[in-house]
Amino acid sequence: MEKQNILYILICFTLLFTSCKLSSGQEKKQTEENKKYSAFHPGEIWRDMEGAHINAHGGGIYYEDSTGTYYWYGEHKGKGSTAQVGINVYSSTDLYNWKKEGVALAVEKNHDSEITTGSVMERPKVIYNEKTEKYIMWFHLELKGQGYSAARTGLAVSDTPTSPFKYIRSYRPNAGEWPLNYKEEWKESLDGGDPEEWWTPKWHKALNEGMFVRRDFQEGQMARDMTVYVDKDGTAYHIHSSEENQTLHISELTDDYLNFTGKWKRVQVGGQNEAPAIFEKEGKYYMITSGLTGWDPNPARSFVADSIMGKWTALGNPAKGEDADKTFYSQSTFILPAQGKEDAFIFMADRWNPDNHIDGRYIWLPIEWENGKPVIRWKSEWDLSFFEDN
Ligand code: DGJ
Repeated sequence: MEKQNILYILICFTLLFTSCKLSSGQEKKQTEENKKYSAFHPGEIWRDMEGAHINAHGGGIYYEDSTGTYYWYGEHKGKGSTAQVGINVYSSTDLYNWKKEGVALAVEKNHDSEITTGSVMERPKVIYNEKTEKYIMWFHLELKGQGYSAARTGLAVSDTPTSPFKYIRSYRPNAGEWPLNYKEEWKESLDGGDPEEWWTPKWHKALNEGMFVRRDFQEGQMARDMTVYVDKDGTAYHIHSSEENQTLHISELTDDYLNFTGKWKRVQVGGQNEAPAIFEKEGKYYMITSGLTGWDPNPARSFVADSIMGKWTALGNPAKGEDADKTFYSQSTFILPAQGKEDAFIFMADRWNPDNHIDGRYIWLPIEWENGKPVIRWKSEWDLSFFEDN
């Protein structure tokens, strides 16, 4: 080929390449401008203000009153489910448009760290402590290479909602403390010892009568799926799946929210609840959970109580309509009170994609009420005016 022809082909390629780059740049800009949301679109890709799919799974929201800002903390997920980055945080003032603030709690490179790359960091929840003026993050922690057997709850602290949180430690809660609703005779194993074979009538009896509580009494109770909740009087509670995921535990936290007081209760013994989320309406406390099917969806459950430590009564599956038996292919993570509106609660849930976790979707739906019970109905698009019209 002549030199001239080669030069001509090279110029053409350069022009083509430059024009492709320019047009994709324009597209990106246009996308960002067009993606100014004014509604929720459950299950669709939800982009942050830079145009990237929001990466905050199993999340929870903290609202900062003084600035009118919501902070959404959630698990950064890659293709797999272990922690490669840590806990992300996004901010928003309207709940539709989210700015990525960065990594709130980063995994640590140090192999000896409990939050080393490849550990499991799930369901982060952040609360603010008025007395210490600290932001407190609790999350479900599993140690690297141990599957889900560590069953610990992790603690991290920060001076601001977004500045990197400092990892403090992890707990097996309530070591050496019996629950409030526990009979004296349950402190000893069943006659002939606690059964090893699962699902037999004897095993069910032993479970009800605290077999796993006494097994883990010294080391501390298992803590997997979790949330934290601050009551009106400022007392904070840590709510988690325990006893091999068979029973929920609700534990009071110390005044600084950094430790467990040792006051705790077993809730829905043998009920296999995961993904707990709590809210309060007119003096009653409501809890929404899922059943226990790994990443697969199942029918949600709801409960009501007169106090956090009170007796929780089952109200049934709050999801109604088509796909209610799968909670619209999602699993609860948090119930968000929308600010400035009375009794406006948003059910936040994850539609997991275990084959490609980064593509997990967010299902946010308004909570409605029927006969005093919370109800969730599918909506492919909705906005906050829903709470004014209903
Ligand atoms: C269900 C839990 O709700 C998730 O957070 C996660 O722990 C998966 N199980 C793991 O299988």
